[in-house]
Amino acid sequence: MFLNLSNEPYLKMTEKGNGEYQVTPWSVEGEVDYDRLAEQFGTKYIDEEIKEYLIKFTGEVNFFVRRGFFFSHRDLDWIFKKYGEGEKFYLYTGRGPSGKVHLGHLLPWYFTKYLQDKFDAQLLFQVTDDEKFMYRDELSLKDVRNSTMDNMLDIIAVGFNPKKTQILVDTLWIQELYSISIRVAKMINFSTVRAVFGFTESTNIGMIFFPSIQAAPSVLYSEKLKKPVPCLIPAAIDQDNYWRMMRDIAEKLGYYKPAQVHSKFLPSLSKGGKMSSSSPESAIYTTDKPKDIEKKIKNAFTGGQPTVEEQKKKGANPYICPIFWYDNYFFETDDVKLEEIRQDCVSGKLLCGEHKMCLISKVKNFLADFQAKREKAKDAVNDFLYDPKKEVVL
Ligand code: TYM
Repeated sequence: MFLNLSNEPYLKMTEKGNGEYQVTPWSVEGEVDYDRLAEQFGTKYIDEEIKEYLIKFTGEVNFFVRRGFFFSHRDLDWIFKKYGEGEKFYLYTGRGPSGKVHLGHLLPWYFTKYLQDKFDAQLLFQVTDDEKFMYRDELSLKDVRNSTMDNMLDIIAVGFNPKKTQILVDTLWIQELYSISIRVAKMINFSTVRAVFGFTESTNIGMIFFPSIQAAPSVLYSEKLKKPVPCLIPAAIDQDNYWRMMRDIAEKLGYYKPAQVHSKFLPSLSKGGKMSSSSPESAIYTTDKPKDIEKKIKNAFTGGQPTVEEQKKKGANPYICPIFWYDNYFFETDDVKLEEIRQDCVSGKLLCGEHKMCLISKVKNFLADFQAKREKAKDAVNDFLYDPKKEVVL
């Protein structure tokens, strides 16, 4: 059976919209218009119903949702409805080990940890070393394996529950995914993946097959448990293509459609775009030293005026300023304090230099703690590695 998706809105996703931005699983350029993106992708906004479910099951509206960082979903209402009826879900997320982990990657993982804790959920964490090897010409298998080992420390340092988390590295455990992947692959033709992922004549054939490998963990625990079980995938919205593809065929293969909750992107420290490993000066890595943090933040773009005098007179624009968004999405958990910061930016009371110094100190504190956890993680790797014999109890 072959899909005909020619009328789907997401076929437009590799176009540059009106010239302002482009979002694919491999790159994000320009200033993303999230409203338009959600419309193009056909996802739903997190609304009052979802927030009511969150209050019912967790007692609160989580920080990331409250601040609008996690903003969109597919079937999250269905996941919660099932949960209310006693049917548990598992979480699935991942990492493509192309280099070092930056602060942006951590945010969906922290939300995943939050969901794991609140819903006592199993987590399947895929590490797509195959993807990064095939996608990035300059990376050898050895490079992606080294990054896998290194990135695993970041994943563990986030604090997932070792009893309920398995990290599946593709090249080590492809046999667990393969029989699912080929069934997925057989139902999807080239014109579909070309349209969904923007593949071209020169895309290597490994990448053309790869979407079926990233789709497979979304139903792996259904396979293991020999019945369809709900799966929720927290990730930034750049990964949505895979799930759109999988959702079109999941039921035909006897599974539930995987559900998603999508985040926005932690912005780059330079103007526009997301924090990305391909732009090292504008990304803060989990392994950065205090002097790197200082240098990068001091050089960051801001929403400020060219001179202090002008800023005091006209104020700054926090909405285009990465320093403000780092406070909003990551560091300033107190809503009242955040609003004060926003007002002080707008009125010109808070100068960009001062705001940068505050952020430098917050990032330094956070990373000192995180790097200590990363060190400890070295002894815990075996507790998290995927074990095909481990019984999965949702
Ligand atoms: P990767 O390694 O590019 O990204 C890992 C996770 O980080 C998210 N992300 C960001 N989130 C916020 N701000 C940013 N600036 C930012 N940049 C990246 C990504 O959306 C992702 O959630 N192919 C995937 C690995 C993968 C995966 C998955 C991801 C395999 N299975 C299931 C999510 C869910 C990849 O290369 O992710």
